[in-house]
Amino acid sequence: MSGEGGASRLGRRLLKVRDRFVAERLDGLLVTHGANVRYLTNFTGTSGALLVGTSTCRLVTDGRYLTAARALLAAPDGPPDTELVPVERSYEATVSELLAGTGWPRIGFEVAHTSVKTHRQWTDRVGQAGQAGAQVPELVETYRIVEQVRAVKDPGELSTLRRAGQMLTEVAGEVRRTLEPGQRELEVAATVDHTLRSGGFERSAFDTIVASGPNSALPHAQPGPRRLAEGDIVLLDFGGVHDGYCVDLSRVATIGPPTEAAQRLHAAVADAQTAAIEAVRPGAWASDVDGAARRVLEERGLGEAFGHGTGHGLGLEIHEEPRVARRDADRERAVAAGADGPLAPGMVFTIEPGAYEPGFGGVRLEDDVAVTDDGCEMLTDVGRDLWVVS
Ligand code: GLY
Ligand code: MN
Repeated sequence: MSGEGGASRLGRRLLKVRDRFVAERLDGLLVTHGANVRYLTNFTGTSGALLVGTSTCRLVTDGRYLTAARALLAAPDGPPDTELVPVERSYEATVSELLAGTGWPRIGFEVAHTSVKTHRQWTDRVGQAGQAGAQVPELVETYRIVEQVRAVKDPGELSTLRRAGQMLTEVAGEVRRTLEPGQRELEVAATVDHTLRSGGFERSAFDTIVASGPNSALPHAQPGPRRLAEGDIVLLDFGGVHDGYCVDLSRVATIGPPTEAAQRLHAAVADAQTAAIEAVRPGAWASDVDGAARRVLEERGLGEAFGHGTGHGLGLEIHEEPRVARRDADRERAVAAGADGPLAPGMVFTIEPGAYEPGFGGVRLEDDVAVTDDGCEMLTDVGRDLWVVS
């Protein structure tokens, strides 16, 4: 089908990518980042590349995925006008021959996802494979073309993420019920991972974090043999993948009644999170949301204790655009790098301020939101009280 109105879901995504060809003076784009290939084709194999032209696409993959790829291309919701190209000797050789055979003057590639070695192989081989007298395509560095399109979710993605958020909410309730003093961090992490799977997720979205006592002051601690002991703060950070889409949640427990210091940290972080959630609306900048959380923590003397950004986009990857981080003095550079920019309806990201006091402990509260026409929708719905375990 042609035309935006009648285009399929994947067709609409391709149109948005092709819109960028004009500004970047491209005749085609070689997409090699797995999440980007999946976004444009529904292809879920671990190796594949997509050459997007102005009206057709070519999906390159190897023998392991050919049957699945054929079925995908034949499916009614499959990628439009896409031809399958099997890998012959190696990806580099097949892709280079494909590029050389297009006759297109300028073909973009994803510089953030290409090794220097692969780039060298492409350029050497494209030169060799070009027919005598034929145009040898120039390989042009591109940055974030598909990622920027992915940052705004379509209605189908939003409903998948909404469902994933509900599932994560249920998993959190189950995890809370199973916590007991004396368990080892590793044991709790294994329970979290098991609960994610039994709750319907296809896998954990990242290595589950369970950090107890002083370990909770390390924002990305690895769970270890330490046992949960009376007086500990326990930071739990976990997420799942549902239908390819990632959701992410952090909550904090105390073993026994919380100390005043733990309560103070928790209340400050909860207020920072509320302020950030209230700052989410279309047109607000991602850094405004970060600023709202940061201001609350600074007012409580915890500015230094909040050493990371407020959030990150969620989608086919656990960390994607938009980034919700501190304002950069050079706004233009931040926008170009995808580190800041105005929020738009359909963006989905975490809000996860934290405060960490080395040697004592840390608190992080994390929920997932979708930007709506006039604010935001919470995708996760878990009480933000301290989980007191006795
Ligand atoms: N929740 C894990 C992360 O954001 O990296
Ligand atoms: Mn996160």
